[in-house]
Amino acid sequence: MAVTGALMVILLLGSVLAGLSRSTTSTATSASANTNTNANTSAVPPIVVPAHDTYNAQIPPAPAGNSVNINLTMKEILISIAPNVAYHAWSFNGTVPGPILHVRQGQMVHVTLTNEGSMAHSIDFHAAQVPWNVDYQAIQPGKSFSFSWRANYPGVFMYHCGTPTVIYHMANGMYGTIIVDPANGWAPAQQYALVQSEFYTHQIPDGSYSVDATKMMSGSPDYVVFNGYVNQYKDAPLTAKVGQRIGLFILNAGPSQFSAFHVIGALFSDVYIDGNPANHMVGNQTISIPPGGGAVVEMVIPAAGLYPFVTHSFSDASKGALGVLKITP
Ligand code: CU
Ligand code: CU
Repeated sequence: MAVTGALMVILLLGSVLAGLSRSTTSTATSASANTNTNANTSAVPPIVVPAHDTYNAQIPPAPAGNSVNINLTMKEILISIAPNVAYHAWSFNGTVPGPILHVRQGQMVHVTLTNEGSMAHSIDFHAAQVPWNVDYQAIQPGKSFSFSWRANYPGVFMYHCGTPTVIYHMANGMYGTIIVDPANGWAPAQQYALVQSEFYTHQIPDGSYSVDATKMMSGSPDYVVFNGYVNQYKDAPLTAKVGQRIGLFILNAGPSQFSAFHVIGALFSDVYIDGNPANHMVGNQTISIPPGGGAVVEMVIPAAGLYPFVTHSFSDASKGALGVLKITP
């Protein structure tokens, strides 16, 4: 049995890594939309799978000044989560994850939410210290709501919809990352934001997919992804230079799987749990990021080449939580 188990692990790892050298799917910047051919009934016209644009992992600059305005719109939309897989998502601003938000420690954050969806939604900022019963309550369709909070702690924080049943709103895509820079900033680095999350799918007659409650409640995802799409940075690697400091700002949005974040061929020179410079560790191989938690990992890579990043929880890596860092001279 032990030999069989070890063999299976080797085969699995081999198949995941072998995928790196193939370029069979063009997921990254395809401008064309595919027609789904999986529809299981001819009575319903097949859905058109939306084209997927690679989610931009680069972190937008934090605005200057003492206050920041953030506008978020809740929308229910059809997105692509894997080749030929159209999913009925609930979103902030029409993407899953929602936009990468970036502020600085000490800034006052003014949030305005507008619900363009068909059901009540809300928001919960892990970076904020505000009463749940006042600011994190349901916003009805067609309504807007504003509140403010000060970014007291630096870090990589989650924001998400908190409307019951919360797991549905998170499993359907209502989450994103807000990065609060320390007051003194970070040392210069090539920085990227990654959000790990899961999709639990169930095909409906037009060939598209919506959430599968049984898989969701038992924690058996079909897809585990970085920034909303299976293996997207395998086909469109994140890039950096030999000797350049790299900072990955990682959020695990879950809703349920733990992340064991690891970069194959690299070590983390520095790790900051939840992205707070005070929570410093050195020389780590793999870091555990709980659902609803974050981390900053830094590394300097001494040789050019391809460095896959994964969750070392390998059933999840094989479900799409794999990307590549491409290091050039
Ligand atoms: Cu919601
Ligand atoms: Cu939360």
